[in-house]
Amino acid sequence: MVATVHRLAAAMLVSLLCCFLFIATLKAQQQPQPAASDNTASPPSCIPHERDALLAFKHAVTSDPAGLLTSWRRDGGHGEQDCCRWRGVRCSNRTGHVHELRLRNTGEEEAAMEGKISPSLLALDHLEHLDLSWNDLTGPSGRLPEFLGSLKNLKYLDLSGIPFYGGLPRQFGNLSRLQYLDLSNSIFRESTNSTDLSWLTRLPSIQYLNLNQVNLGTVVDWPHIINMLPSLRVLRLSYCSLASANQSLPHLNLTNLEELDASWNSFDHPMVTSWFWNITSLRYLYLHDTSMYGQFPDALGDMTSLQVLDLSYNYNNDEKYRIMTTDLKNLCNLEVLNLDWALLYGDIAELFRNKLPRCSPNKLQELDLNWNQLTGMLPRWIGQLTSLVILNLGRNNITGSLPISVGQLTGIADKLPQWFFDAFSNVRFMNISNNQLNGTLPTDMGSTSLEELYLSSNQLTGHIPILPSNISFLNLSNNFLSGPLPSAVGSTNLNQLSLFSNRLTGHISESFCKYQQLFVLDLSNNFLEGEPPLCLKTRMTSIDLSSNNLIGEIPEEIVFLDDLVNLNLSRNHLSGVVPNKIGEMQSLESLDLSRNMLSGEIPASLSNLTFLSYLDLSYNNLTGRIPSGSQLDTL
Ligand SMILES: *[C@@H]1O[C@H](CO)[C@@H](O)[C@H](O)[C@H]1NC(C)=O
Ligand SMILES: *[C@@H]1O[C@H](CO)[C@@H](O)[C@H](O)[C@H]1NC(C)=O
Ligand SMILES: *[C@@H]1O[C@H](CO)[C@@H](O)[C@H](O)[C@H]1NC(C)=O
Ligand SMILES: *[C@@H]1O[C@H](CO)[C@@H](O)[C@H](O)[C@H]1NC(C)=O
Ligand SMILES: *[C@@H]1O[C@H](CO)[C@@H](O)[C@H](O)[C@H]1NC(C)=O
Ligand SMILES: *[C@@H]1O[C@H](CO)[C@@H](O)[C@H](O)[C@H]1NC(C)=O
Ligand SMILES: *[C@@H]1O[C@H](CO)[C@@H](O)[C@H](O)[C@H]1NC(C)=O
Ligand SMILES: *[C@@H]1O[C@H](CO)[C@@H](O)[C@H](O)[C@H]1NC(C)=O
Ligand SMILES: *[C@@H]1O[C@H](CO)[C@@H](O)[C@H](O)[C@H]1NC(C)=O
Ligand SMILES: *[C@@H]1O[C@H](CO)[C@@H](O)[C@H](O)[C@H]1NC(C)=O
Ligand SMILES: *[C@@H]1O[C@H](CO)[C@@H](O)[C@H](O)[C@H]1NC(C)=O
Ligand SMILES: *[C@@H]1O[C@H](CO)[C@@H](O)[C@H](O)[C@H]1NC(C)=O
Repeated sequence: MVATVHRLAAAMLVSLLCCFLFIATLKAQQQPQPAASDNTASPPSCIPHERDALLAFKHAVTSDPAGLLTSWRRDGGHGEQDCCRWRGVRCSNRTGHVHELRLRNTGEEEAAMEGKISPSLLALDHLEHLDLSWNDLTGPSGRLPEFLGSLKNLKYLDLSGIPFYGGLPRQFGNLSRLQYLDLSNSIFRESTNSTDLSWLTRLPSIQYLNLNQVNLGTVVDWPHIINMLPSLRVLRLSYCSLASANQSLPHLNLTNLEELDASWNSFDHPMVTSWFWNITSLRYLYLHDTSMYGQFPDALGDMTSLQVLDLSYNYNNDEKYRIMTTDLKNLCNLEVLNLDWALLYGDIAELFRNKLPRCSPNKLQELDLNWNQLTGMLPRWIGQLTSLVILNLGRNNITGSLPISVGQLTGIADKLPQWFFDAFSNVRFMNISNNQLNGTLPTDMGSTSLEELYLSSNQLTGHIPILPSNISFLNLSNNFLSGPLPSAVGSTNLNQLSLFSNRLTGHISESFCKYQQLFVLDLSNNFLEGEPPLCLKTRMTSIDLSSNNLIGEIPEEIVFLDDLVNLNLSRNHLSGVVPNKIGEMQSLESLDLSRNMLSGEIPASLSNLTFLSYLDLSYNNLTGRIPSGSQLDTL
């Protein structure tokens, strides 16, 4: 989950960044700056009939909660009658004509303007830049307004996130100077569609085209049309219901294309038959979840400009696993390689040695091989990936001891070889859970950069190391780790600690109080002894200490954990009473104290736990009734 969010965020960041850079470049190239104060001539103020047009536009906006148009007034003081000074309006410093309208809703949905886009905009016939994105300006028709196709000077048109439906107007083909067109929509809404994109070919200057989420399911010849847009640099067609990408083009004109996103379409044909593998100018290629099967194309190995390559979730109903035959050795610009669930099998060492980029310096920062069928041992060569920040190898069949080759080389059984530190010196996220790694962790990981480390469900033995000093999320559950809990010296950022189902012994020491940021703690199913700690932090949301050998009483102080949603202390040897004020733990949804030696009355305050939906007090020596009033499913 976190990994996905991470990746999504990274991908979005990359796209956003790219987009911003692109816009910035466009802007720098063409847009005049608003009038600066000038000694010789004062800048022309706005042209009266254009001001009237803007006021008519405002009039058609029925709701403006963010107050974007508050400054748009005919009669105010402070020069407000000069529409060139209104928010979002920019005029030519030479002629005074309105050149730009920038009214994007950058806030939440609640901040969106509502109403319709007034045809009065047609009076702004020098308009070059129109951005109304993420406002609810669909008007009663709900359709994209055709008349915008008459704003013939437009270079930039952004109507993204406006919940239009119905077809894309062919009239937009009249916008012959257009360089930037964004008609994309949010995936959570009903959206627009088109049966014919041939009007795009009348936009020879188009550099940026985003039709994400526009239904293009019936546009069979889309690659031919796109191929007639030689200026194109960014093309986004994700969630477009595109039926296939296996059209053959006699000649490729797209020599400027830097980004192609065709994710979330269901192509259902062999990957090698797709038309875009010759576009060697591509820097960003997103093909997540496109149902393409078979081998990766050899031509991929020549796409040396690639910085981000996402081939994740490419499976179809046959689920045929493929071996990596394509040699990516020369992709020296690659920073992100996502092959999550790309149905790969084969030897991981071979993959690293002979297929992944071998460049110096190696720029690879993010490598995701999660959920494949890779076998074998992690190779020493991984040490050359010195830029790596995210390494996801979860859910494969990687074997061997984690400190690979330690046994053979160094005679030292519990120390990680130097190459391992070199390899991971910059890694902040590592997931190798659900494999078959054995061996031990190094005794001291304090100097690694790891912030998230997931090694659950392997066969690791030995002790828990000194934790990486910046660690936030640590999951070593479901291994054969023994010895005491980690010392809480350092590692003050720890958020989540999952060590369940190991063979840990000893007490939960007071040093746990040092984890000021801890909110999820799962130490269940170990051999921990002693009393539960007294000093748990009030912001914790989940505590699971079940199936251990804890003795003593449930500390009264536990009732101060009023963010706690889940508390499981079952299957221990706890005695004494259930804290009387347990009803103060207002967030509690699940409470399991079963199979202990608790005695006394069931506290009446339990009835105050309005969110409680799971309660198990069984196999204790408690008396009294479960108080009514709470919404319990299970007892
Ligand atoms: C780590 O990988 C495993 C196995 O693929 C997966 O289930 C888990 O969600 C991953 N964890 C994170 C935080 O990415
Ligand atoms: C108008 O703005 C452009 C671009 O900033 C500038 O080069 C030009 O000198 C300005 N012209 C006047 C008349 O201010
Ligand atoms: C396009 O959308 C409109 C309105 O939602 C719908 O009536 C029409 O059938 C759709 N056309 C296609 C080709 O999907
Ligand atoms: C705009 O496009 C439409 C449809 O493509 C066409 O019929 C119309 O003549 C064009 N208008 C102008 C002013 O070019
Ligand atoms: C692009 O290539 C096609 C052949 O696929 C050719 O017919 C067309 O003229 C070219 N278009 C442009 C705009 O260069
Ligand atoms: C292209 O792929 C589709 C499936 O998406 C298939 O039906 C069609 O036969 C393929 N066409 C060619 C020329 O391979
Ligand atoms: C793409 O590359 C392949 C092999 O290099 C070549 O056969 C094909 O003609 C190229 N296609 C285009 C459209 O350039
Ligand atoms: C991976 O391991 C699982 C479970 O241990 C096994 O069922 C599967 O056959 C293995 N796959 C390969 C490719 O070795
Ligand atoms: C670790 O796994 C490797 C490969 O499966 C095996 O050869 C080795 O004996 C195992 N070592 C231990 C200590 O279990
Ligand atoms: C821990 O994080 C801090 C702040 O981001 C950073 O300066 C420091 O280098 C990190 N420590 C390690 C060992 O990476
Ligand atoms: C439930 O909460 C209310 C308000 O906090 C308090 O007055 C009352 O005594 C509590 N009931 C029990 C049984 O603890
Ligand atoms: C259960 O509690 C009762 C009264 O509180 C006590 O007499 C009895 O010995 C307890 N039984 C056990 C098994 O602890």
